[in-house]
Amino acid sequence: MAEASPDQIAPLLTTEGWELLASLGPYNEAESFSLNAELRKAGHPAELVSAVLTQSRLRTKAEAKFGEFARQMLFTQAGLEQATRLNVAARHAERFVKAGASHVADLGCGLGADSMALASMDIKVTAVERDETTAACATINLMAFPHATVVHADATAISLDGVDGVWLDPARRTTSTSGTKRIWDPEDFSPPLSYVESLAASGRAVGVKMGPGMPHDSIPKGCEAQWVSVGGDVTEVSLWFNRVARPGIRRSALVLGPQGAAEINSAEDFDGGPVAGVGPVEGFLYEPDGAVIRAGLVADVALRLGGHLVDEHIAYFCAPELHDTPFARAYRVLEVMPYNIKTLKTWVRANGIGVLDIKKRGTAVTPEELRKQLLGGGKSRNGRTATLVLTRIGEERVAVAVEPVTTGRA
Ligand SMILES: C[S@@+](CC[C@H](N)C(=O)[O-])C[C@H]1O[C@@H](n2cnc3c(N)ncnc32)[C@H](O)[C@@H]1O
Repeated sequence: MAEASPDQIAPLLTTEGWELLASLGPYNEAESFSLNAELRKAGHPAELVSAVLTQSRLRTKAEAKFGEFARQMLFTQAGLEQATRLNVAARHAERFVKAGASHVADLGCGLGADSMALASMDIKVTAVERDETTAACATINLMAFPHATVVHADATAISLDGVDGVWLDPARRTTSTSGTKRIWDPEDFSPPLSYVESLAASGRAVGVKMGPGMPHDSIPKGCEAQWVSVGGDVTEVSLWFNRVARPGIRRSALVLGPQGAAEINSAEDFDGGPVAGVGPVEGFLYEPDGAVIRAGLVADVALRLGGHLVDEHIAYFCAPELHDTPFARAYRVLEVMPYNIKTLKTWVRANGIGVLDIKKRGTAVTPEELRKQLLGGGKSRNGRTATLVLTRIGEERVAVAVEPVTTGRA
């Protein structure tokens, strides 16, 4: 994580700074210039006003992850971007509760979201953070929990005596003069995956949050891997070792959406699992949730809904019935056409289509370019709205006209 600037936090850790921050209403970008002038005119120093306005903006942005708790918390820009959403952190913490952990170390705690969730479940927490400003924010964010302690240190150098659970959310970005950059190799993360595995080898309950794109072959044997999506976006894969892994579950997709939480699991390794048949595009076409796709559970969901894949390598499936499932978005199949510009132009004209939503999987077509080709530069916005799914069945490219179906998921 980029080292956070102390200038943005230190002025807030004074009575004047804290009270001024608390006195502001929700942040409004359009009013920030005049508010800045007003606060300066009232005699507040420039660096305090700058810190207060930055914090106010971050708090408002943070409500998406932390709800009303954001109003009492302190953030850095980089810390907020990487912080775990509170509803996901609560799921992490629940694992440690169920495993009977009494003292959890959060190694690389950032702003402390995961630590807050653990502490709110009455677990003793040692939250370790090497960046001083971020550690100061975590200290404020955990102030309501006397059984949580923030330690400003290198997490790999502290003693874990008395600790029976470890949570890690390693930094997956590097900082250079040109800004922050995502890194992909788990050995380049801080702390690296091998360190996490060495902790797991000690027999403690260990959980780690990794990027959702982590290749299956980098996932250590013997842990449970759970991909999590929130509102359709896949946010992480967490790996669970020892007592926080659930017996008999190797991979899992946890979908958090408007209907609540839903989970689908498999005991099989990544190259195992059921084989769903392949069949025609007909009935209802389902677009699986990203967590289901990343966990390799598309065939499992298809079979559960009495469906079949449209191609064994493509993450769409069809079923004769409409199912209200949290694991996939449903579309009614209207027409299946070969992928051919002339055919599609005729279809657009015949149906008076003016707005085209294009989805695709397994084809290199660029939706924006195709839309331009079919609608003539996208100028005719007066016609009907239609949805087209482009995919590949074997070697053949197809375009499927579909109609989104409203279910609890969407
Ligand atoms: C992805 S963030 C953690 C976010 C945190 N889970 C949250 O919800 O706020 C990773 C954090 O680990 C810290 N970090 C990385 N390596 C560390 C180390 N060796 N010791 C302590 N902290 C470390 C970084 O400074 C960063 O704040």
